[in-house]
Amino acid sequence: MYGLVNKAVEDLVSTRFGAETWTKVREKAGVGVGGFVSMDPYPDDVTYRLVGAASEVLGAPVPALLEAFGEHWILYTAREGYGELFSMFGGSMAEFLDNLDNMHTRVGLSFPKLKPPSFVARDLGEGRFELEYHSTREALAPMVIGLLRGLARTFGEVVEVEHVQGRDRGGHDLFRLKVTAAAAE
Ligand code: HEM
Repeated sequence: MYGLVNKAVEDLVSTRFGAETWTKVREKAGVGVGGFVSMDPYPDDVTYRLVGAASEVLGAPVPALLEAFGEHWILYTAREGYGELFSMFGGSMAEFLDNLDNMHTRVGLSFPKLKPPSFVARDLGEGRFELEYHSTREALAPMVIGLLRGLARTFGEVVEVEHVQGRDRGGHDLFRLKVTAAAAE
């Protein structure tokens, strides 16, 4: 995956657990000191190794880390200059879910080797949706849950997510969502 993803993993680990913890994770994953270049593609294995090493160093299960990573990705990409994509492709979860593929197509203009996921959203009414997640990659469904949570927050909404089917059945993951307005603070 692109270096931007690995840098977001680094950002999550080092801001929450400190630079020393990141060094341990990096070393355990067999990644050198040089850091990542956001716009350079790296083998997927590097990202999986980083997440696996973080799981060992922090004593946290991989799915929990992927979920936290998904939520962090929304903040990180906004900070790294991609925030306008969120308003460009929708003003609410309902609109944005329909546009996830268009958004990644847009992202692909800057990242020509992008292998984006693909989503199919079905609006079931009253804030309920079904969402298919198609990917060439394994085991990233928990990341989607975190992404959806972070995404809802940017629109002032809250989402409950249920993972109802894994990719072992039918070749894609399936989620059921319930979106509500966030309570005023
Ligand atoms: C501005 C926001 C975003 C940017 C810039 C962005 C960009 C990217 C990039 C660079 C990758 C790595 C893929 C590769 O290197 O081949 C990726 C992967 C991914 N993105 Fe996005 N993305 C954004 C928002 C989202 C949102 C809101 C979702 C979903 C709800 C999402 C779902 C995913 C998933 C699940 C992957 C993992 C790859 C896979 O499943 O095969 N992204 N994205």
